[in-house]
Parts: sequence; structure tokens; C-alpha cells
Amino acid sequence: MLMAQITDMHIKPEGVLAYGRVDTAPYLARAVSHLLALRPRPDLVLATGDLVDGGRPEEYRRLRDLLAPLPMPVYLIPGNHDDRNALAAVFADHAYLPRGGRFMQYVVEGYPVRLVALDTLVPGQVGGLLCAERLGWLAARLEEAPDRPTVIFMHHPPFLTGIARMDAHGLANSAEFAEVVRRHRHVQRIVCGHLHRPIQALVGGTLATTAPSTAHQVALNLLPDAPLGFAFEPPGYQLHLWRDGIGLVSHTAVLGDWPSPSAR
Ligand SMILES: [Fe+2]
Ligand SMILES: [Fe+2]
Repeated sequence: MLMAQITDMHIKPEGVLAYGRVDTAPYLARAVSHLLALRPRPDLVLATGDLVDGGRPEEYRRLRDLLAPLPMPVYLIPGNHDDRNALAAVFADHAYLPRGGRFMQYVVEGYPVRLVALDTLVPGQVGGLLCAERLGWLAARLEEAPDRPTVIFMHHPPFLTGIARMDAHGLANSAEFAEVVRRHRHVQRIVCGHLHRPIQALVGGTLATTAPSTAHQVALNLLPDAPLGFAFEPPGYQLHLWRDGIGLVSHTAVLGDWPSPSAR
């Protein structure tokens, strides 16, 4: 089972640049082309939030067009830049998305690894939260299949990174989340976005990871008083491979042309 993870695509309306500088749509188109060329081809794609920049229907329609070449299922969750209602309306045919509930949380079955999607969005806030209702739902889902290897995917990572301005807008109740995870040893990975760069930490005894954005990256600055900075480092995505005899292993791929030193 091969899972690709794309994140923080921040799609804007046609002709509008993110931060006045970043034309995010061509970046996503390049990531999609990259995924299409991969061999083996991923079985599914996880898109871990900040799918669009302003939560507007026109942005989701543009996102939908950009993702359309992908033949495999794409599982969407919201980030702080997303709007649940606009997302659900434009992706009405994505049958896994819950209808009528308050949160976009769901389980993906049918693969060797069971996937549990969490919704950390708090409308109007940059930071995220898993309230008692959302955490209770997670605990119930983990308890119903204790023998299945499970991956949780969510936008806000449940750990601090040392990047001060991002930590100031992280997941509010990471400790409570970690306690739920700690009770469930079958959670193999917690796969996140939001940070716009790949970072790993242990949470509740299991590995939690973030992924690079398909577009702009957050600058690596660990000074406690550093302002938030972005950098045009190589964008990328992650591949999470599950294979008998290996278990789950996570790779970070960078987008771009990187010739071999032996190429002529
Ligand atoms: Fe983002
Ligand atoms: Fe975010």
C-alpha cells in the first residue's frame, strides 16, 4: 500500500497570488504530474488541509480541476484556511465526506492500513483544536479496530516544532490527543500538514510527521523570537509505504528536476 501525502496547496482564485508572490496553482499542477509519473503509482492521496487559501467556492472549483488528473482516490481534510461548507459543496461526489455533521472526520477502510481523518479546524483561528466531541470520536474509532494498523491524518500537528510563530498557532490540546494515542498501540503514524516543511516528533509513543507544502515553505528559523518567514525551498510531498515485512516507512520527495551525477 502506497499513500502519497500532499498538503498546504493554498489554491487562490485565477490570477491571484498567495502573499502577493506565490502562484500556488502551477505548483500543485507540478505535484500532480509528479504523482502521475510515479512507479509504483500511489494507491491513494491524502490532502492534509489548507487545500485553498481563502475557503472560497471558486478556489475549491479550481482545486478540483487541478486534482482531476489523479485516477486514485484523494481524501481531503480541512486546515485553518479552509471552509467546511464550501469544501463539501464543491466535492459533493466525495462520498467519504460526512454530511450534516459539524466536523469532517471519517474512516477509510478497504486497505491494509486503516485511515482515520481528523478535523482540527476552528473557523476564524490559525491554530487548531480537537474538542471533546472530536477526541471522543477518535477514541471510539480506535477502540473499534484495535488489531488494524492505523494512520491518523490531520492538519495541525500535535507537537511543538521550535518554529516560534507556528508553535503559537498549533494544536491547542495536544496533550489530550497524545493520551488517546498512547492507549492505542496500533496507531502507526500521525500524518499532518500546516508547517510547510517536513518535521518528525514522538506523540503518545508513536511517530508524528509534517510534510512540505506543494508550494511555499516555512523558513527554518529556531530563534525563540523569530518572525514567521517563508522560503522558496524545493517544494515536495510525502510517500508513506506499507509493506509486509517492512511496516510503515515515510519518505519525503522534493519536486523539481534533479539529475543524476552520472547523467550526461
Ligand atoms: Fe498552510
Ligand atoms: Fe495551516
